[in-house]
Amino acid sequence: MTNTELFKTIFKRKSVRKYAMTPLPPEIFTQIQDYASVAKPLDTSIRYEFYYMGEEDVKGLLAIKAPHYICIFSEKKQGYLMNAGYLLQQIDLYLSANHLGSCWLGMGKLSKNIPSIKDGMEFVIMLAFGKASESVHREKINEFNRKSLSDISTAEGVEELLEPVRLAPSATNSQPWLFSGRRDQIIVCREKLNFIKTALYEKINQIDMGIALYHLMLSLEYYKKTAILDFETTSVPTGQEFIAQVKIGRAKEKRDD
Ligand SMILES: Cc1cc2nc3c(=O)[nH]c(=O)nc-3n(C[C@H](O)[C@H](O)[C@H](O)COP(=O)(O)O)c2cc1C
Repeated sequence: MTNTELFKTIFKRKSVRKYAMTPLPPEIFTQIQDYASVAKPLDTSIRYEFYYMGEEDVKGLLAIKAPHYICIFSEKKQGYLMNAGYLLQQIDLYLSANHLGSCWLGMGKLSKNIPSIKDGMEFVIMLAFGKASESVHREKINEFNRKSLSDISTAEGVEELLEPVRLAPSATNSQPWLFSGRRDQIIVCREKLNFIKTALYEKINQIDMGIALYHLMLSLEYYKKTAILDFETTSVPTGQEFIAQVKIGRAKEKRDD
């Protein structure tokens, strides 16, 4: 699976909520595990682990019923939620690129038989996945229910780079991101939350930002740009919280296709 294939999948992926309950063939399951084992973290200093579960291991009235789930457990450290989003979005796109269904599951809870702490790492979030019993892909961009580019960006000259980020999934489709800056430097921000929303969305929105950053990195790679992520705070528009700045450099010689 190349990053170009993952990039192209962004334009058709969707959350799949109906699954055939037959487990995937072992060889397919192994390929998924192999791919997950080489996923690239946003912050290499954060310890994490993927953990696979079956139907019986997940509870929650609102949880989606699927034959498989992949969870991420992580060390609780600055940036761990974004790191989890960044990592699991690689799996979400990989599954979709392989015509399998997947859905982020913020509502999913571990059943009693699964400890929520493993090796000092805390359960963060899971994705449901398996063979879909509904369509896996969208046919057209207008099937995406998303904010427009002008709603999420004031940056100039980077429309093409940001389109795949605009399409990123987010919890309750809140799309909490805002981009500013220019061609050689994109500033990534997150909408500041009011008191009530903080309680509900503070954690999950950080996962969303990790997802958006992964889409941005895939986009920069596809468009043959170099990117340096810098988490050193800079000034941001009113009402926004700084997440990262991305310094964009000259074209690379080649990408992986
Ligand atoms: C962090 C996160 C948590 C989510 N949790 C749930 C969930 O618990 N249940 C659900 O049905 N969908 C969940 N979703 C899926 C979103 O509702 C979905 O991504 C969004 O509405 C956009 O739709 P799309 O993924 O089909 O493009 C979650 C998505 C993200 C990114």
